[in-house]
Amino acid sequence: MTIFNMERAIIRKSVLFVCLGNICRSPLAEGIFLDLLARRGLQDRFRADSCGTGGWHVGEPADRRAQEVARAHGVALVGVARKLDPTEDFDSFDLILAMDRQNRRDLLDEGAPADRVRLLRSFDPALRGRLETGLDVPDPYWDEADGFRAVFQMIHAACEGLLDELVKD
Ligand code: 4NP
Repeated sequence: MTIFNMERAIIRKSVLFVCLGNICRSPLAEGIFLDLLARRGLQDRFRADSCGTGGWHVGEPADRRAQEVARAHGVALVGVARKLDPTEDFDSFDLILAMDRQNRRDLLDEGAPADRVRLLRSFDPALRGRLETGLDVPDPYWDEADGFRAVFQMIHAACEGLLDELVKD
């Protein structure tokens, strides 16, 4: 029994979605990824979490506009914002997914292992071969709801591609 559980723990892959405030993009990515896992019956094989490189919104739920667009697609955003914890997070996640290039720079400046950091949209198969300048998930915080709808679609396409890649391993 114990051995079985240990094996399960070892094969479980963990992914961490990272943005600036952890109230818009990375909670959407976490919620969408968890929803895709549930739809494909893969919850036991992966662990997902999200955080922000900044700490202004720690303890707050996801932005209301992010919650609305998620709910419109049947995706629940649970949990509250937390700040990146380099000591803990860089040790415990197999893959760290930055929403934009600034998030990635901040992660690397904090000492993230470069081989485990990726831009989330690099997993969108429709964007294969695109220059990195075209792979940011833009920050929708200062936008209207339209920005959140666009960001939802970007993140959804990328999370599907990400999961397709991960299940191949
Ligand atoms: P997020 O969006 O990084 O996608 O969560 C932001 C949320 C809050 C702020 C900036 C970006 N802010 O400056 O408070």
